[in-house]
Amino acid sequence: MNFNLGFIGGGNMSTAIFNGIIKSNVHPPSKIWVSGPHIEHLKYWTENGATATIENGVVFDNCEIIFLGVKPDKLDTALKTINKTTKNLTKKVLFVSMLAGKSIDTIQKAITCYLSCASISVVRIMPNTPMAVGAGICIYTPDSTVSDTECHIIETLLGSSALCEKVPENLMGSLGALIGCGPAFMYLVIEALADGAVKQGAPRALALRHAAQMVAGSGQMVLKSGKHPGLLKDEVCSPGGSTICGISALENGSLRATMINAVEAATHRTKELGK
Ligand SMILES: NC(=O)c1ccc[n+]([C@@H]2O[C@H](COP(=O)([O-])OP(=O)(O)OC[C@H]3O[C@@H](n4cnc5c(N)ncnc54)[C@H](OP(=O)(O)O)[C@@H]3O)[C@@H](O)[C@H]2O)c1
Repeated sequence: MNFNLGFIGGGNMSTAIFNGIIKSNVHPPSKIWVSGPHIEHLKYWTENGATATIENGVVFDNCEIIFLGVKPDKLDTALKTINKTTKNLTKKVLFVSMLAGKSIDTIQKAITCYLSCASISVVRIMPNTPMAVGAGICIYTPDSTVSDTECHIIETLLGSSALCEKVPENLMGSLGALIGCGPAFMYLVIEALADGAVKQGAPRALALRHAAQMVAGSGQMVLKSGKHPGLLKDEVCSPGGSTICGISALENGSLRATMINAVEAATHRTKELGK
C-alpha cells in the first residue's frame, strides 16, 4: 500500500498492532513511523525496520494514516505537540484512535482545537493485544467523512491479525470492554484452570499450556461449529458424569454472574476514563 503509516505512542497496544501488520506483511516496516517521548522505549520498532522519533509532528508530517496510541488522558498533550512540531499544519490525515472511551466527537473536538487547519478524518477502533500473535479482534467505527476505500484500507491493515468488524459507535463501549479487557479476564481463567490441575498433581508448565490450548480450542468450537455455547456445553455433560460435576461447582461459585459483572465494571470504567 502506497502510503506511510504512523503511530503516535508506541506502547503495548500500538506494538501489538505493529506486530500484526509486519508479521502478515500487509505493510512494509520501512513505511511505518512511530513517536513517543522516550526514544529508548521504541527500540523494538527500529529493530524491526520502522522509523522512530520523539517528535509527534514528524509522524504527522510524514504519514497519511496515523494511529493514536496514547493513553486517553494524554490526547491533548499529544495533539498539542503535533501542533508545535509539524511543518505542515494544513495536510490531510486519517487518524485511527484506539483511545478507550473517547468518542469520535471528543476526538474531533480535540483535533479542531489543536489542528484546525488540517483536513482530518477519524476512525475509532477498539483492538486487543492478541493481535500481536494474529489472533485478535478489532471493531471500528468511521466518521462520516471516511470513504469506503479508507475503510477497506483499515480492514486490510487490521484484518491481517484480527477479526475486524465495523460496528455502530453506540456498541463501542460494551463490545470494546469485552474485546479490550477480555484477554486479561481470560488470562485469569487460564491461570486458575491450570492451578486446578496443579492442585490435582499436574506439572505447572504442562497444565498452563494445556489450559491455554483448551480455552483457544473452545473458542474455535464456538466460532466454527456455529452452535450456541450452551448446546456445546450440554453435548459434553453426560448424565452423572465428571463435566456436569465441574459445571455445578462453577455455578456454585457464580462464574456467569462474575463474568457479567466484570464486563459491566470494565464498560463503566472505560466510560469514566473517556470523560
Ligand atoms: N493495552 C490494551 O489492551 C488496550 C486495548 C484497547 C485499547 N487500548 C488503548 O490503547 C491506548 C494505549 O494503551 P497501551 O496499553 O498501549 O498504553 P501504554 O503501553 O502505556 O502506551 C502508551 C504510549 O504512549 C506514549 N506516550 C505518552 N505520552 C505521549 C505523547 N505526548 N506523545 C506520544 N506518545 C506518548 C508512551 O510512551 P513512553 O512509554 O515513552 O512514556 C507509551 O509508549 C490507550 O488509549 C488504551 O485505551 C489499549
